[in-house]
Amino acid sequence: MPIRINGSEAQLPDDPRVSLLDFLRQRLGLYGTKKGCDQGACGACTVLVDGARILSCFALAVQYEGRAVTTVEGLASDGALHPLQRAFIEHDGFQCGYCTSGQICSAIGMIEEVRRGVPSHVTEDLSAERIALSRDELRERMSGNLCRCGAHNGIVAAIEAIYAEATK
Ligand code: FES
Ligand code: FES
Repeated sequence: MPIRINGSEAQLPDDPRVSLLDFLRQRLGLYGTKKGCDQGACGACTVLVDGARILSCFALAVQYEGRAVTTVEGLASDGALHPLQRAFIEHDGFQCGYCTSGQICSAIGMIEEVRRGVPSHVTEDLSAERIALSRDELRERMSGNLCRCGAHNGIVAAIEAIYAEATK
């Protein structure tokens, strides 16, 4: 069974050792997903699998047979940027841009975790029906995505602009 990448089917590599990250970049030419550390520490390679965020450097492509992968290239629709992509521009959420695709994919996956009531390390009330996306919650939940340029204030502002109201 093939894998679906941004809505299109692709044939999985014959070599089971190929990471999902290398498959996306080297086999499919989807260079939006970045390789930072290649060892699960920076978040630059974050993509969505069936809506959940994963580190593609830590995943083997063949594990995702039959699954739907979304990379940053698949977020725009009908030629319009995803609202979070626009917010990153409006709030100066990047400088060099190397971490940006991972930040954006991670934030989209993160907000679904909040909506499902998945607690983080800083969630105080584990019995609450809704988890509000406070500044502390947001920072903790995005702490796996590093920005070496120090654009974190803009990144947080962009994510808050799109999602803070939705989780109140
Ligand atoms: S490249 Fe995957 S976490 Fe850094
Ligand atoms: S914008 Fe340069 S690493 Fe984040």
